[in-house]
Amino acid sequence: MDARRLEADQLAYTPEVARETAHLYARVARVVPEIEWPTFAPYVAEINRLKREKNAVILAHNYMTPEIFHCIADFVGDSLQLAREAAKTEAKVIVQGGVHFMAETSKILSPDKTVLIPDMRAGCSLAESITGADVRLLRQKYPGLPIVTYVNTSAEVKAESDICCTSSNAVDVVESIAREHGVDTVIMIPDEFLAQNVAKQTAIKIITWKGHCEVHERFTAAEIRAYRVTNPGVVVLAHPECPPEVVAEADFAGSTSGMISYVANKKPARVVLVTECSMSDNVAVEHPDVEFVRPCNLCPHMKRITLPKILHSLRTMTVEVTVDPIIAARARASVEAMLRVPLRPKQTEKQAA
Ligand code: 13P
Ligand code: SF4
Repeated sequence: MDARRLEADQLAYTPEVARETAHLYARVARVVPEIEWPTFAPYVAEINRLKREKNAVILAHNYMTPEIFHCIADFVGDSLQLAREAAKTEAKVIVQGGVHFMAETSKILSPDKTVLIPDMRAGCSLAESITGADVRLLRQKYPGLPIVTYVNTSAEVKAESDICCTSSNAVDVVESIAREHGVDTVIMIPDEFLAQNVAKQTAIKIITWKGHCEVHERFTAAEIRAYRVTNPGVVVLAHPECPPEVVAEADFAGSTSGMISYVANKKPARVVLVTECSMSDNVAVEHPDVEFVRPCNLCPHMKRITLPKILHSLRTMTVEVTVDPIIAARARASVEAMLRVPLRPKQTEKQAA
């Protein structure tokens, strides 16, 4: 029997566990059927106990499933918010509820902490699309142009870059690095669509790379138009990793947290979040009066992170994410350069015409 199966067999939905987790179930009751809670609750109770014992925090991305996002996470957010949290947490251990590049970013910013990823195979099609050697070739091809690198990349790629960005600060970062280098063109890697969407919001010219997010590239403009026909009045919010023609059909484009803020502030009667599937569940929990139209494009990498794997991770303190210290120091310079760029309010959250 494998270790995780054994752990599962030792957990039970006792009356004590039911009592201890009742307030957490109340939070997710709208999106987690009652019949499923007895399978989640013992994990939730044990993970929350172990976190305290081991002085650990769970940083969960907005794409985590609701029982992770609402019941065991200490901090939730988009890539930028999680990076900021990793930089300042006092905990000894960080468990990354997210994919490998996010865990690497946490390790880069907190080299003295233990950073755990519950499944090493949680990758990302964007991070896979480019290597450090590719970036060195780009530098040779375009001497003097600064390289802006999306955080969805390996530490090695970050190390070869001038500055990182996320979907919530990309325009600010592009403009700031162009100003600093006195140039009108920057290289922005590896997400071609994010770069094209950013290019529409700035006078800076952008040379890009052919990487795509395998979840967002699947949305089409025709699909967005169809949502409007079948759901009259629906407000369409799209992630800027979507193709530009999809963003052009949306009412608003922004990072995952940008979309969450939009729903919280504008309270549309009916909304569709053109992004990874679990986001709608997580946001629906907080907004019972908003009707969510739900396309379901799942990120297979994010979905590798589950309660049993998080528990296993905390119990065994595996899998520890490590980054070569020389690469980490160079990558940290790129991430910290990004964290120093001041954000103008709503700057990247383009209001489509
Ligand atoms: P943000 O949460 O930063 O918008 O990024 C989305 C994403 O795809 C992360 O993998
Ligand atoms: Fe990567 Fe896309 Fe999955 Fe985010 S949603 S981790 S960009 S593959």
